[in-house]
Amino acid sequence: MKIAVLPGDGIGPEITEQAVRVLKALSTDGLRIEMEQAPVGGAGYEASGDPLPEATLKVAEQADAILFGSVGGPQYDTLPRPQRPEQGLLRLRKHFDLFANLRPAVVYPELAHASTLKHEVVAGLDLLILRELTSDIYFGQPRGVRINEAGEREGFDTMRYTESEIRRIAHAAFQAARKRAKRVCSVDKANVLETTQFWRDVVTDVHREYADIELSHMYVDNAAMQLIRNPKQFDVMVTGNMFGDILSDEASMLTGSIGMLPSASLNAKNYGLYEPIHGSAPDIAGKGVANPLATILSAAMLLRYSLNQEATAQRIEAAVRKVLAQGLRTADIAEPGKRTVGTREMGDAVIAAL
Ligand code: NAI
Ligand code: MG
Repeated sequence: MKIAVLPGDGIGPEITEQAVRVLKALSTDGLRIEMEQAPVGGAGYEASGDPLPEATLKVAEQADAILFGSVGGPQYDTLPRPQRPEQGLLRLRKHFDLFANLRPAVVYPELAHASTLKHEVVAGLDLLILRELTSDIYFGQPRGVRINEAGEREGFDTMRYTESEIRRIAHAAFQAARKRAKRVCSVDKANVLETTQFWRDVVTDVHREYADIELSHMYVDNAAMQLIRNPKQFDVMVTGNMFGDILSDEASMLTGSIGMLPSASLNAKNYGLYEPIHGSAPDIAGKGVANPLATILSAAMLLRYSLNQEATAQRIEAAVRKVLAQGLRTADIAEPGKRTVGTREMGDAVIAAL
């Protein structure tokens, strides 16, 4: 099995280094993973003037999956748009058609204090948000600003989904639910928007192939409210690009710690890009204090979804839980009475727990 490791910028190299060490430690139970590193984002620009160098794309194409750190930083903010670090990530998503964005929101018992919500509301939460990533109003044409018939300026965008785009994300949701609590809630605004009534009809049709999965539908405004009122009612939530953008950020904050949250972006062949949901954190880069757990948990998702190694993925997740139970905390999740450790020490602890 082959993984392309793209550390990127800021804390990216520090946190991916720990995930790579964890993956290497798995060789003791016979898992042979080959890893090749390549520059992306600002690092790609420094190396070759391009945030996604040709050689990096080649490394990614020859691999089974990508482990991605984070890109960006203030030193790149004045570059023209095509050379900006985030273009490296956007082009990878486009190139590999990574339409299914999986964002788990899991509350670890040891960190339940970190949420802004009441402990009993979030304790035990294990939710998966599945966001469609390559279509919807973000990509629909036409769009722009024009002078209308009344002579007034108006802005407009186009919400659009093809049947095949809805079908593939619906399949991804039902298949993900199969490995979990077997419940899918599809979120739309079918009472107002034609596109999302169509979404609801297609999801309902795809559901016929998944008799073992329970499907419910919810309007997005209610879903936003229910996520705060009683998030534990959900198992898998599936929704379009725009609603998913908003709901997945909302859900991530139920857990209260950006340094803990992994993500996966998959295509139809389960090729995927795996990355922490946070950015390059320039304010703490190079200090050895960043939390590597979101990236280590992203590596666990990589094993689960792209390499089909469910048991090993669960071992990594159990090791993370054990380290938290031992009372180790990086600065972002620091707590009185617990031991604050740096990036590498956290990596060491996870490897020891494995
Ligand atoms: P950020 O997520 O990098 O940082 C937000 C806050 O969270 C900062 O205070 C940071 O120190 C903290 N933080 C983030 N990850 C942490 C970790 N693992 N451990 C401990 N603390 C952590 O978001 P920000 O500051 O808005 O963006 C910084 C740069 O990252 C920008 O250039 C932005 O464009 C880029 N970015 C890149 C993303 C990616 O590569 N997918 C996603 C989001 C932002
Ligand atoms: Mg967002």
